[in-house]
Parts: sequence; structure tokens; C-alpha cells
Amino acid sequence: MYYPDELVEEVRTRNDIVDVISGYVKMQKKGSNYFGLCPFHSEKSPSFSVSASKQMYYCFGCGAGGNVFTFLMEYENYSFQEAIQFLAQRAGVALPEREDSAQARERDNKRAELLKVCKEAAKYFYYQLRAGTGAGGYAYLRGRELSDETIHKFGLGFANMTSDDLTRYLKSKGYGDKLIQEAGLAAFDEKYGLHDKFWNRVMFPIQDSNNRVIGFGGRVMGDGKPKYLNSPETPIFDKSRNLYGLNFARSSRAGNFILCEGYMDVIAMHQAGFTQAVASLGTAFTAGQANLLRRFTQEVILAYDSDGAGVNAALRAIGILKEAGLTGKVLNLEPYKDPDEFMKNQGAQAFQERIGQAENSFFFELRMLERDYDLKDPESKTRFYRQIAQKLCGFSEEVERENYIEAVAQKYHIGFENLRRLVRSYASQTGEAAPAPRPKSGLQKKRDPAQNRKKPQKLLLTWLVEEPSLYRKIKQYISPEDFTEDLYRKAAEKLFEDLEKEIINPAGIISLFTDGEQQREVAELFNTKLEELSTRTEKERAFHDVLLGVKRGSFEALRERAGGDVSALGRMIESKKQLEELSKTHISLN
Ligand code: CTP
Ligand code: MN
Repeated sequence: MYYPDELVEEVRTRNDIVDVISGYVKMQKKGSNYFGLCPFHSEKSPSFSVSASKQMYYCFGCGAGGNVFTFLMEYENYSFQEAIQFLAQRAGVALPEREDSAQARERDNKRAELLKVCKEAAKYFYYQLRAGTGAGGYAYLRGRELSDETIHKFGLGFANMTSDDLTRYLKSKGYGDKLIQEAGLAAFDEKYGLHDKFWNRVMFPIQDSNNRVIGFGGRVMGDGKPKYLNSPETPIFDKSRNLYGLNFARSSRAGNFILCEGYMDVIAMHQAGFTQAVASLGTAFTAGQANLLRRFTQEVILAYDSDGAGVNAALRAIGILKEAGLTGKVLNLEPYKDPDEFMKNQGAQAFQERIGQAENSFFFELRMLERDYDLKDPESKTRFYRQIAQKLCGFSEEVERENYIEAVAQKYHIGFENLRRLVRSYASQTGEAAPAPRPKSGLQKKRDPAQNRKKPQKLLLTWLVEEPSLYRKIKQYISPEDFTEDLYRKAAEKLFEDLEKEIINPAGIISLFTDGEQQREVAELFNTKLEELSTRTEKERAFHDVLLGVKRGSFEALRERAGGDVSALGRMIESKKQLEELSKTHISLN
């Protein structure tokens, strides 16, 4: 960490989380917490809560959570350091020269410089589009039915015919050759020296979710090749973690996101009022992008090209969305090639109708699969049904699987019981479709032992934060080593240390982690939903179960790790003894 822990704490405590978040989210006080509509996903009733006493926020809908730093990191896309600097300034806390390594400082400076040069280049392209030399580019964009307003909103621009005018311009502004190259705006070769990467193209600046230009796509005006030229990956341009249009789509309240393939598709859709449209950046859709989307929505509608390549890309994207716990649907654009063409020919209302008819992604997959089989041939038809059964095994939640079996049976005219038997027999052969229900939120992956172990650990940490007095009663049975996940163990270590000193400061524990994802996970640890239990006996039993769960998980993990290792055996036996003792002990909660 670059700043000393005490200073980070000072900055945090001088910025009340309710004050800070009130600047972004409209909230109402209910009991001891404040509630509002979650800014990280789209919802109609408030599940976003901010606790003044814990100085934490948590959304029961999408699981976003953390302290005041995490909030700014998520909302403003700040790094941890940037969030500290912002809040220090807000509260008038003077920050010393940072004690970070020269290397870290250099990296941050480099990022800032790259952002600056990209912004300058975007301004230059923007200006060129409106100058005489850019007339061809402007005519091209207008020819594609983009309004002036749209061209302005997306900051579209033009790279001139001459092969080094951007470079010359940037150099005249004081930017060095090396930086211009590192930003992907120019390349060097022996023959031509330093020359622009983009020329004679209409330019699409690519912005991160916080409106900062991080790269460019450039399109030829006609049929030349390559059709698009994109900036290479740079320290500020990570193609797998950004989406074109997200800076606008994040504040759309449509309730879904539309994922399409092309920049032009996104622009055409926004122009037609579908401001929830985004696209990947000239590369295939990635898990990182799915995670990004999950912060804003639960449902993603795919609007990929209707040709073979588009269908394959859609099939891949469906798998990635499912992995991330998002609901996928597929838009049928036929007879048009892509959303842009559809919009031009049919208009917004027809597009809205197609959204209403978007196909469940599972049925889309089956329909695409079906093309490989000849359903008039019994042999082939049987193979197709087996494939369906195999795919149905992929639903690990029983209710969901049954619902799909029913729907598929109806759609393909297969007997419900027959299909169900086929699924069962397939499941038992392969060990797939374990009956364990998947948690409803869909945020978690399939259950596995490690997953089962996490639950009581989270519950225990939340319980201790809610009722710190319990610590005295459990410390002889449970220690931080019993937490099997690294992150949980680190959080437990600090929490136990605090509780020992009768301090309770979960928000402070969060800032021990500098990574936004980790902060979110730690926040979740302290915000697990505890069951509402009315009688003391019920509560005691539940608490006891949680303790046993933690201890049992710890013992199992030791056993797995021990293998034949004799030294580990000692700890294991000790742990087993503690487990047995705990199971016989009554811990009263008064
Ligand atoms: N793409 C690319 N390089 C190419 C072709 C395509 O990076 N040579 C990326 C671009 O991000 C493009 C997307 O793939 O936006 C989709 O390609 P395509 O459907 O061909 O482009 P459109 O955006 O539909 O462009 P247009 O309508 O101008 O043809
Ligand atoms: Mn197109």
C-alpha cells in the first residue's frame, strides 16, 4: 500500500459514507440504515443500503458493497489511490508525498500521460472532421444517417490523408515520440520515421465507463481493408475489460443491456433511443466484460449479426454470460444483417418489438444445434434428443432444470417423462446435474466443497460484526486459521485482532484491501443476510450450526491438504478434537 494505514483510516473516517453517497444516490432513512436505488444495477425498488454505524454500503440485489473508497472506485472508476486522493481533498486532509515505490509512481504517471495524449488526439480528430480536410469523413458519417447531435455525443472524428499530421500536432503540444507510440497513435519505421497509425479514416474514440478516452477505432470510408483499425492494447486500454458505449449505457434505466458487435450498431441504437447498447472492442466478448455488465444489469440481450460468424459469436457469448450468472436472450434481426441496418429499414418501434420477442438463450442454442441433425431420420433425431438431454443437465438447480425439461418437451414434442428419464440417466452417467440447489442470486458458481465452506464463514463474520459481544464466547473454539479462504482469513485476522481490543471497525478492514473486487467481497462478508430468528433457542441453535460449519470446513480442508503429511496430521487431530468438543458445547447468547 502506498499510503500508511493510519492515514488511509483518517481519510476514511473524515468522510462520512452517508454524506458522500448522498451526492450520487437519492436515499431515505429507514431504521438505522439509508436505502436507495442501486447505482450499480438497474432496479425499481431500493435494495441498496448504506449503514452510518458500519460506514459501509451493500446492495442486496447485486451484491455490490464496500466502504466509502470502494464506492468511488466502483462509481467513478477510480483506483484505490485516486479514491484516497479525492476524499483527502474533500475533507481537507493533507497527503504527504507518497511513499510508494518509484516504479508504482512511474506507472501512475504513465497512465495519466497516456490519458492526456489520447484526449488530445480525440480533440484533434474531432476538430479535423469539422475542418475542410475532413469533409469526406463528415459526409460519410452523415451518409450513414448519423445526426450532428450523435456525431457530437460520440465525439466522432477524422484522421487526415497525410501520414504524420497527428504526430506533428502532438509533438508541437510537447508530447514525446515515445509516449505517442506507447499510446498506439503512431509507429516508427526506418523508411518513414515516426508516422500516424490512423489516416484517412473516420475515428471512433473509445471511452471507459468514466468518459475518459482510452483508445480509438478507425473505419475506412468505403470498402478498403482492413475495415476497422483499432488501437493496440496499452496500459490504459484493456480491451477485455471495457465496452464501447458503457459510459452512456451505465445510466440507462432500460432494465436490460443490449450487446452488439459493432461500433456503428451501438451508435445507431443510441441514436434511436436504445441507450442501453454496448459492444466489445473489435475482439470477442470476454468474461471480464460479463463481470463488468453484471454491475449494471441482470439481463443481456444479444444483438449480433445474423450471419454464420455472428451466430457463432452469440453462442460463445451465451456461455460467458451464463458463467457470470447473467440471463441471456437473443434478438432476431432477420432479414437484416445487424442492428444498424435493421434500424435504418424498420425503425425504433419495430426494434422494440423484436426486443419483446427476444429468444431465451437456451432455446436459441437448441435451435442452432438442431441444424446439424436430420429430424426425419430416427437415428439422427435420437442423437439430437440425447444432445438436448445432455445440455439440460447443465442446469444444476432442480426447479430450473424441471422447468426447462417441461418447456423443451413441449416445444419439441417429446414426452415429458421420457425426456426427464433421459436427462436423469445422462446425469447419473456423467455425475452432472448434482441435485444441490444453486443459490437464487445466480451470482455464485455451482456448489462445490469450497463453496459450502464459505457460507458459515461469512455468516460468522457478519454475526461478529453485528454482535461483537459474541467474540468472547467463541474465541476459544475458533481462530482465524479456521477460515479456509485466503481473503476470509485475512479479514478474520484483522477482525479478531480488533475485537480483542474491543474495537469494531469493518469499514477499516475493507481498506486493507486495495483491489475493488476484493473490497466488494470483504463487504459481503460483513453483510451476509442473517436469518430473522425470533426465539433465543432458535438463535442459539443457528449460531451453533454456524460455528460447527466453520470448524468442520476447517477440519475438512486440513484433511484434504494433509494427504500423507505427518506433521499436518497433528493439527488435524487437534482440530478434530476441537470440533467434537464444540459440537457438545452449549453456547448461550445472552
Ligand atoms: N472489427 C474490427 N476489425 C475489422 C472488422 C471489424 O475490429 N477489420 C470490429 C469492430 O469493432 C466492428 C466490429 O468488429 O465494429 C463489428 O464488425 P462489422 O460488423 O464488420 O462492423 P460494423 O460495426 O457493422 O461496421 P459497418 O456497419 O461500418 O460495416
Ligand atoms: Mn454494420
